[in-house]
Amino acid sequence: MTGKRGVSIIGWGSALPSTVITNQDLEKTVDTSDEWIRTRTGIRERRVAGPEEAASDLALRAAQAALKKARISAQQLGLIIVATVTPDMVFPATACLVQHRLGANTAGAFDLEAGCTGFLYGLSVGREFVRGGTYDYVLVVGVDILSRITNWQDRNTCVLFGDGAAAVILGAGRAEEGILSTYLGSDGSGSEYLYLPAGGSRQPLDCRALEQGLQYTHMNGPEVFKFAVHIMVDATLEALNRAGLCLDEVAYLIPHQANQRIIDAATKRLRISRERILVNLDRYGNMSSASIPVALAEAADAGQFQPGDVLVLVGFGAGLTWGANVIKWGPDAVH
Ligand code: ACO
Repeated sequence: MTGKRGVSIIGWGSALPSTVITNQDLEKTVDTSDEWIRTRTGIRERRVAGPEEAASDLALRAAQAALKKARISAQQLGLIIVATVTPDMVFPATACLVQHRLGANTAGAFDLEAGCTGFLYGLSVGREFVRGGTYDYVLVVGVDILSRITNWQDRNTCVLFGDGAAAVILGAGRAEEGILSTYLGSDGSGSEYLYLPAGGSRQPLDCRALEQGLQYTHMNGPEVFKFAVHIMVDATLEALNRAGLCLDEVAYLIPHQANQRIIDAATKRLRISRERILVNLDRYGNMSSASIPVALAEAADAGQFQPGDVLVLVGFGAGLTWGANVIKWGPDAVH
């Protein structure tokens, strides 16, 4: 093979549940207030999946929209990657359910789990398959239904999360455009800051686990907060360094959407002005793997990106994990 191909985002789409839960709704169920939630997190409302709506349902809708935008058929996909911590079932992979319902008959499919950094891990893996020439088109989905693993009686966590999905199609493009760099990291010593205790091989989901509420997300908020601020700064700078670009050249930063104060603290250190930061957590809360691609898809749909715009996608999550990708939005992305 001669050289590696450039890899562009050639299609995108998002899917959100229709049910909206506002801060005022939560005031009626837990000891909290709209004022506390808005000032401590920036969140005003979030979407929550219906009882019949699972990860594969939202993923399918997002994938169909992305295929349409890319003007390719599901049969042209070589690989499907679904990043999620809330698959339909422990197995089979949600990616296989999406593959079947799309009719992507010649695609491989697997799930990938990297907490809220999942979509960036998926984007990075998908990029390599297209770059090396193994596949022409890869579908990457970020989807989470965090409402299913949230204790709605716990005010420390239930105000933070929301459900959603978004997908992108990766295809070959010009070498100087598309995904220019990847930076991924992990530190398992922080695994207890953010985890779901039961349902795995260490603690099966038995009666004892249910009595203790171990089926819900456990989080040390202040520790995650401190980690998030410094890692968003470091990951942004490292990914830009790998792309040979500097902060002044960045058109938009698309950060993981966990808390407006995390975004503010990190972007203040990076000296990036507010209008260059895409934020959707006020409307959707923290959607884990879906937060970054939903922000990307909605901005792309609104025509916010111009060819040549440099985007930095940066996130962090359970693991602990983190990552960043630098993307040069190309004409390939607007066909
Ligand atoms: N309403 C009212 N009061 C509340 C609420 C609430 N919803 N939640 C917590 N409080 C109270 C606490 O009980 C505490 O009261 P106390 O002082 O009497 O004990 C007080 O508010 C302050 O609590 P802190 O935890 O210090 O509040 P903080 O300012 O740190 O904000 C938060 C908490 C929002 C969780 C913040 O730490 C945060 O955003 N951390 C990062 C979370 C994150 O990024 N998670 C990623 C999750 S990714 C994933 O799970 C997939």
